[in-house]
Amino acid sequence: MSKRQMIEDPYAEYWAQANPQGNPAAAPKPALSTPGGFKHIGAATPRVDGRMIVTGQARYTHDLFFDDMLIGAILRSPYACADVVSIDLGPALALPGVKAALKLKEGRVRWAGEQIAAVAAVDEATAEEALGLIKVEYKVLPHVMTEEASRAAGAPQVQEQQANVIKSNDYSRGDIAKGFQEAEVVLERTYRTSWEVHHPAETHSSVASWEDDDLTVWDSTQAVQGVRDGLARSLGIPAGRVRVIKHYMGGGFGSKLGVNDYTVVAARLARETGRPVKVVLTRRENAFCVGYRPSMHNTVKAGAKKDGTLTALQMTNYNCGGTGRGDRCSEPLVEVYKCPNVKVEEYSVFVNTCPSRATRAPGHTQGTLALEGLMEELAAKLGLDPLELRRKNYSGKERGDTGTAAYSLKALEQCYKLGAEKIGWERRNKKPGAGAGRFRTGIGMASQIWPGAGVPGTRADLKIYSDGSVEVECGTQDIGTGTRTHIAVVAAETLGLEPKDISVEIGNSDLPWAPNSGGSLTAPSVAPAVRDAALKAAEFLKGLAAKKLNVAPAEVVLENKKVGPKSDPSKGLEIRELARTFPRPMVFHGERADNTPGFAYQTFGAQFAEVEVDTETGKIRVKKVVAAHDIGRVLNRLTAESQVVGGVTQGLSAALFEEKVMDEATGTMVNPNLHDYKIATVRDIPEIVPVFPDVPDERLNNLGNKGLGEPPRIPASAAIANAVFNAVGVHVREIPMTPSRVLAALKKKEGV
Ligand code: MOS
Repeated sequence: MSKRQMIEDPYAEYWAQANPQGNPAAAPKPALSTPGGFKHIGAATPRVDGRMIVTGQARYTHDLFFDDMLIGAILRSPYACADVVSIDLGPALALPGVKAALKLKEGRVRWAGEQIAAVAAVDEATAEEALGLIKVEYKVLPHVMTEEASRAAGAPQVQEQQANVIKSNDYSRGDIAKGFQEAEVVLERTYRTSWEVHHPAETHSSVASWEDDDLTVWDSTQAVQGVRDGLARSLGIPAGRVRVIKHYMGGGFGSKLGVNDYTVVAARLARETGRPVKVVLTRRENAFCVGYRPSMHNTVKAGAKKDGTLTALQMTNYNCGGTGRGDRCSEPLVEVYKCPNVKVEEYSVFVNTCPSRATRAPGHTQGTLALEGLMEELAAKLGLDPLELRRKNYSGKERGDTGTAAYSLKALEQCYKLGAEKIGWERRNKKPGAGAGRFRTGIGMASQIWPGAGVPGTRADLKIYSDGSVEVECGTQDIGTGTRTHIAVVAAETLGLEPKDISVEIGNSDLPWAPNSGGSLTAPSVAPAVRDAALKAAEFLKGLAAKKLNVAPAEVVLENKKVGPKSDPSKGLEIRELARTFPRPMVFHGERADNTPGFAYQTFGAQFAEVEVDTETGKIRVKKVVAAHDIGRVLNRLTAESQVVGGVTQGLSAALFEEKVMDEATGTMVNPNLHDYKIATVRDIPEIVPVFPDVPDERLNNLGNKGLGEPPRIPASAAIANAVFNAVGVHVREIPMTPSRVLAALKKKEGV
């Protein structure tokens, strides 16, 4: 019997937010009524707002300015552990131009960067000067900064209520001991990942403004609805009094999900001064105060028959998320491959640094580096083709083929096939490290899994005005992925219009409910709701036209801005003409229905990377990445491809460069800027080839599209690490694979 026991889920709140209401009332929709060919859906449509964005006309939170606006700034603790004895705001308040000051902290500070106090002043310089005048008395206490130090006996206790190490996940199925007994080959390896910082192009920022008891906040957020709810809770005011707006944002990877502490501060300062207050985090603050991807220190062990059949998989993982709980990293190991005997134990280790945050595919990214590294090393040990080893253990059901629900759609085999073809899989070293000379090339791959099924209950309204113009309203947001464009594409397709004919209103919490943009769920939530509204509008228009044309509604189609008879659509009536008769704007309410019950919904993918390693300097150059992803139906080829390019780039960056470095002695961050914290630049990014099987998931929703936000990020670091292994014959097993780590691994030259 399988047992699944989650002691604590660090993202419980996040997942609950993602699906707060469910949608029991909405009956599952029948299979897709997909016409033979779509004109816009699946085509390569340029972003409807692309011109606005590249010409600088799109308005970001950073761009907002009001005449009487004040600038808010936050004083942060320089100590990783200390008691705040006293805060004196007096000297700051006495500075001309300072309009308000707040105390934000009492008692124990547990990480350097925690909010201590805040000011609102007429300009940035005055606000900065005022922060320097605030007098804070601290009693400095010992801190602990590394996983190892925190686990050691006698380490300072980070949390008040709990030990430095807590069990965060415990899962088992089958009989792990029996699984290893049955194995002919057993391999155990330890993989590590570092702290990886959220560095969106636009740093975190909020502008807050009150009108009587009504609060409006412009926020660089992935979650207009979530921030509305969070602000209402934090300020103790009715949610209906809060409106959150986000027109455009310069990226968000998880740290902009839900309300942030500085946003509450902006609202409090605005209430106190009666003026709008803007808080923009500096790049430095953004680097060490808003979270990061927790680290992983993960020992994984596999048992297999000589033919590659897995008999056992085991994981013991210590993840470290500072004062927050780390990520559960076991899902890929539990889910991806057919294996009857699995055992997982995960621990969260606390240290005195900022709490980690959800970061693009939390847990799966780290867990995939470990699982897929192990699979690659196991293949080498067994003398098997690494891709064949994956195929040998292909699973058709949830929980590594041991669960009850079959996958609604799993096009991973197509991803394997297409990806292997496009990278030239046969060119890899048949034996890892088989090449010669200073520069060694290699090819590696990794599989990917991630939910991304979308949220039932998502709503969208489609309005047709009496001038014939069409508007879609949805309380979702575009975090840079092209949400406006896919909404326009779906509405246009359904109504026989062009994407540019559709006005799209999003990014406002007053609009019909949609989930936060996290968990790869925006497109599979929003697009089906828009499709539903547009189908209702189409039915209405067809009914009207049928009467006027004196034909059966079933004989009417929408095409080229006309509603007309199937036999000759050009004889139809202009939608614009029909709309003239509307007494008022006609509103059609769309809702995203439930998924067909009884199936497991996941996205799948496989990435293939080719690298060159300089064995003298330890430098890695990624030459090419092929990224094949089963995301169901592709809504817009251009934005889908751009999402993949972004995800692979981020994975490459983490694989080679990214690492938050803390100074153990002072407890502060050593590299809180983009000079010392390295990210991939255009010089590092190779040819990236996105590939989509593009098979609609007929059971998922009325369009059959799954999510894509996180999937391309998940296997990228692992595929690159495996390519390095294929090149040099030794697995580095720790990202970022800096030159020094590569050289150290080469020196060890242990056999596999
Ligand atoms: Mo994300 S971690 O779904 O922004």
